[in-house]
Amino acid sequence: MKTIFSGIQPSGTITLGNYIGALKQFVELQNEYNCYFCIVDQHAITVPQDRLALRKNIRSLAALYIASGIDPEKATLFIQSEVPAHAQAGWMMQCVAYIGELERMTQFKDKSAGKEAIPAGLLTYPPLMAADILLYGTDLVPVGEDQKQHLELTRNLAERFNNKYNSIFTVPEVRIPKIGARVMSLQEPTKKMSKSDPNQKAFISMLDDPKQIVKKIKSAVTDSDGIVKFDKENKPGISNLLSIYSIFSGKTVEQLEQEYSDKGYGEFKADVADIIVNVVEPIQEKYRSLVDSKELDDILDHGAEKANKAAGKMLSKMENAMGLGRKRR
Ligand code: TYM
Repeated sequence: MKTIFSGIQPSGTITLGNYIGALKQFVELQNEYNCYFCIVDQHAITVPQDRLALRKNIRSLAALYIASGIDPEKATLFIQSEVPAHAQAGWMMQCVAYIGELERMTQFKDKSAGKEAIPAGLLTYPPLMAADILLYGTDLVPVGEDQKQHLELTRNLAERFNNKYNSIFTVPEVRIPKIGARVMSLQEPTKKMSKSDPNQKAFISMLDDPKQIVKKIKSAVTDSDGIVKFDKENKPGISNLLSIYSIFSGKTVEQLEQEYSDKGYGEFKADVADIIVNVVEPIQEKYRSLVDSKELDDILDHGAEKANKAAGKMLSKMENAMGLGRKRR
C-alpha cells in the first residue's frame, strides 16, 4: 500500500480553504493509502504564538480532523512535537538545503517582507517540512496549490540526500485537487483565503456559526455585472463562490451557470451559504462532542506511538547514511 503524509498548522481555526484544499481530500484518500496526518505545531512557532491559544488550537485541529471524517482506525493522526524525529531529521535536512534556495521560497518572501527581526525558523521551515514527509517513505502528498513550491524543494532535497549519502528516500509526488486548490478570500478574491487574515470577513472558519457564515457570504466581494458566470480574471469573487458551490454540490460549474442564468447574486449567494452550512454544521456537532474528550487524547497517544515507530526507523537510516553517532551493535 502506498503512503500519504500531509500536515496542517494549528495557527488558528482552520478555514473552508484548508477543508477544501486539504482535509476533504484526506478523507477521500484514507481508504486507499497508508495515511499519516499531522498537526504541525513546530511549523506554527515560526511566527509568534500565544502559548495558551496554541495549545487550544492544537486540540481543536485534532478534533476537526476527526469530525471531518478522518478515521483513526484507518489513518495515523498525531502532533508533530510528540514525535521528536521530526525536529532531528529537520536539522539534518537543513544541513542538506542551501540558504539561496530557501530565500527563494515565495512564502518566506511574503512572510518576511518589511520585517526587521525575521525568525531563522521562517527561513528553515521548508527543510522541516521535507523531513516531515521523507520520514515516512511518503509516496504522495495531498496539499493545496500554495504548498507546491515547498513540495518541489522537498523532492530536490530528497534527491540531493539520496545522491550525496545513501539512496534511502522515496521522492514524493504532490497531489493538488483539480478544483478548490486555491480557495480565495471573500473580501479580496485575488488573494488566497487564509486563517491568519486579520479581516475576519475574508474567511469562513470551520467553527463559524451558521449565521456568521450566511453574513460573510452575503458580504463577499463580487462585481457589478450581475451575471453568475465563471471568469477568474474579470469575476474572481463570483468564480470563487462558484467553485465552492460546485465542490459541495457535485454539480459542474457549467450546470450552475445554467441554473442561475436568470437569477441574481442575492439568490445565488443565499444558496452558496446554505450548502456551506449543510457541510459545516454536522462537522461542528461532532467537533463539540470530541474536543474535550478522553477519546481524543487516546487517539493522539496512539497516533504518536505509531508515528514514533515509523519515523524512528527512518531517522536511524538517516543517521547511518550521514555517519552520526556510533554504529549500532
Ligand atoms: P497550512 O496549515 O497553511 O494549510 C494546510 C493545508 O491547507 C491548504 N490550504 C488551502 N487550500 C486551498 N485553498 C486555500 N485558501 C488554502 N489555504 C490552505 C494548504 O495548501 C495545505 O495543504 N506548510 C504547510 C504545513 C505542512 C505540511 C507538511 C503539509 C508542514 N509539513 C508536510 C504537507 C506535508 C502549511 O503551512 O499548511
